[in-house]
Amino acid sequence: MEGQLRFDGRVVLVTGAGGGLGRAYALAFAERGASVVVNDLGGDFKGVGKSSSAADNVVEEIRKRGGKAVANYDSVEAGEKVVKTALDAFGKIDIVINNAGILRDRSFVRISDEDWDIIHKVHLRGSFQVTRAAWDHMKKQKFGRIIMTSSASGIYGNFGQANYSAAKLGLVGLSNTLAIEGRKFNIHCNTIAPTAGSRMTESIMPQDLVDALKPDYVAPLVLWLCHESCEENGGLFEVGAGWIGKLRWERTLGAIVRQKNQPMSPEAVKANWRKICDFENANKPQTIQESTASVIEVLSKIDSQGGVSMNHTSHAASTTTSGFTTAIGYKLPPRTFSYTELEAIMYALGVGASVKNPENLKFVYEGNSDFSCLPTFGVIPAQKCMMEGGLSEVPGLTIDYAKVLHGEQYLELYKPLPKTGQLTNEAIVVDVLDKGSGLVILLDVYSYSGKELICFNQFTVFVVGSGGFGGKKTSNKAKVTVPPPKRPPDAVLTDTTSLNQAVLYRLSGDWNPLHIDPSFASLGGFEKPILHGLCSFGYSARHVLQQFGNNDVSRFRAIKARFAKPVYPGQTLLTEMWKEGNRIHFQTKVQETGDIVLSNAYVDLVPTSDILSTKVSSKVGMLQSTLVFEEIGRRIRDVGKELVKKVNAVFQWNITKHGQTAAQWTIDLKNGSGELYQGPARGSADTSFTLSDENFMEVVLGKLNPQKAFFSGKLQVKGNIMLSQKLEMILKDYAKL
Ligand code: NAI
Repeated sequence: MEGQLRFDGRVVLVTGAGGGLGRAYALAFAERGASVVVNDLGGDFKGVGKSSSAADNVVEEIRKRGGKAVANYDSVEAGEKVVKTALDAFGKIDIVINNAGILRDRSFVRISDEDWDIIHKVHLRGSFQVTRAAWDHMKKQKFGRIIMTSSASGIYGNFGQANYSAAKLGLVGLSNTLAIEGRKFNIHCNTIAPTAGSRMTESIMPQDLVDALKPDYVAPLVLWLCHESCEENGGLFEVGAGWIGKLRWERTLGAIVRQKNQPMSPEAVKANWRKICDFENANKPQTIQESTASVIEVLSKIDSQGGVSMNHTSHAASTTTSGFTTAIGYKLPPRTFSYTELEAIMYALGVGASVKNPENLKFVYEGNSDFSCLPTFGVIPAQKCMMEGGLSEVPGLTIDYAKVLHGEQYLELYKPLPKTGQLTNEAIVVDVLDKGSGLVILLDVYSYSGKELICFNQFTVFVVGSGGFGGKKTSNKAKVTVPPPKRPPDAVLTDTTSLNQAVLYRLSGDWNPLHIDPSFASLGGFEKPILHGLCSFGYSARHVLQQFGNNDVSRFRAIKARFAKPVYPGQTLLTEMWKEGNRIHFQTKVQETGDIVLSNAYVDLVPTSDILSTKVSSKVGMLQSTLVFEEIGRRIRDVGKELVKKVNAVFQWNITKHGQTAAQWTIDLKNGSGELYQGPARGSADTSFTLSDENFMEVVLGKLNPQKAFFSGKLQVKGNIMLSQKLEMILKDYAKL
């Protein structure tokens, strides 16, 4: 048959082929032209006894179907003898399927030496013996395909199978190395972890599952991996029921917990545990070279430490500017940050957005038609690079986190933040400055959604006590603060923070105990836990946007502020604002003390003329159906309660443009007093309609009959079609949809 994967001329040895999976492989190979050695010792599933009938029956079956097969009754432990059968009968050996196996399940302490040894002898040593006997023949002919049979028990562990798990995972290790050693001779070795009904699984699976999970649903993978056209080598696959998945290793970015010339301590391991175990941004090393290279890199990173004094009380003596040459320009590994409406709302609450002010509803309610992320939420994805000790990875910088202060912050948005999504953050140390009493690190962070740059942050990090090394004091890379005009402010807004403000704000990702743990705060010299500087920053940014930007997030371009003094949760923040064109200067005070806490700050707004033009251009591309849905929304607000009683159903609309879904709307006439919202139904829809924007308008304008649209395929309806009749009640002015 054309295109069929054939094995004509190939000699295949399948161990343990007298039943179960092995039998299925033997039959399948023979059917596709291979000459097959059917090996089976013929004992019971615990490895007791022996018999030739198991192998003979399968050989008989193959021959009856016109295939070529011979039997071998040796244990796989006698690998040479097994392989000799292939050489004697067919003159060569091309493919080895290591499949023979037994079980000796016992809880760990009850495993006898014999139970341990026999499992290892059959599975691990048996696969070794058979494969080694075939290896040189494969090498000489420059072709070989080998399969090792592992198990989910080895990969994940399984109660009562310590002996079996150990042997089965041993096979993965064996296969990994054979894949490397065999590659240049065109010998490929892959491993499968099958799930199938057999006499082996009869004791642990119900009979109907044993019957359903046919070995035939595993065999095709084995055949493909053994075909001459298959390039796969060193792979590990789980397979069963007709499904196949590939496995690989994943490794966290980890943490360096040692400092140059200092002993490594278990406390440092404990302190970094979260980072050591954080799989976000994990990498997937594929070779031992990749694995060890990163360990060697750690040595050089630690070795290059020392640019900054380890002893913060005697900094001036040991620090030099030259030590920072490796730090400046250093790019931290990119980190991703995924968020949903939940994170955006949590942040908004953290910086004091409240329904006390109805205009804030859009920042805390995802169902609001204008739901938006507060612009300053843009610092949260970026700060991920700073949190979790990102700076400790920078070569040439040694940072004592207890001495780190957040000095200043700059944020610029190139477009409003997506309501949900994933941002990839790329951070780079752009300069290191000497401020005498401390050292300043300028860290620029670019946040991308896909390839699109969404926002830019510059963190100014102050490390107390590490200055005085004779370095430069300013940088042309720094975004600078600007003093406010010398006149009374044009506007002032106040907000009282709650006692729980820091508790709430920290949920957005800054877990520093300084903001919640009284003993930690007193260690830092504060009478109680202090509010996050970026929390006050968020408050003031909200004030400016409310006062001068009409709460329109698309008007927010940039913000810069210096963190001058701490704020205690419960205090009232007072933002003084001065308008100078599109720049709003501001400073923030604690009302109770008069202390300036954010100084020399400003927000740049996008001129209203620019906003208008982008809104007009986006309207041009707007769907016509949007206008109709907006009108439906208004109607539901008026008579929703009544409609819910009469209709009692949820309808979802999928509006397409050029064949792609361009908008989704849900009309909920089942819950509360009815609601229209954008997006798919939050629970499930009773009826959903899919049609193009153009056809929607045709139907609405009475130019296209909905039944005709349905039968011609222009309108697709899913769910309870009868319910659509009830839609007329709300759409009666718009024809019959
Ligand atoms: P099975 O018991 O039906 O087949 C194993 C065969 O190996 C038997 O015919 C047995 O006589 C033979 N055998 C046992 N010791 C031998 C030896 N020393 N020399 C030669 N032949 C010997 O079991 P099944 O399920 O077909 O298992 C095949 C392989 O797949 C085994 O390695 C097993 O550990 C593995 N496996 C099976 C799973 C399943 O869901 N069936 C799950 C994970 C792994």
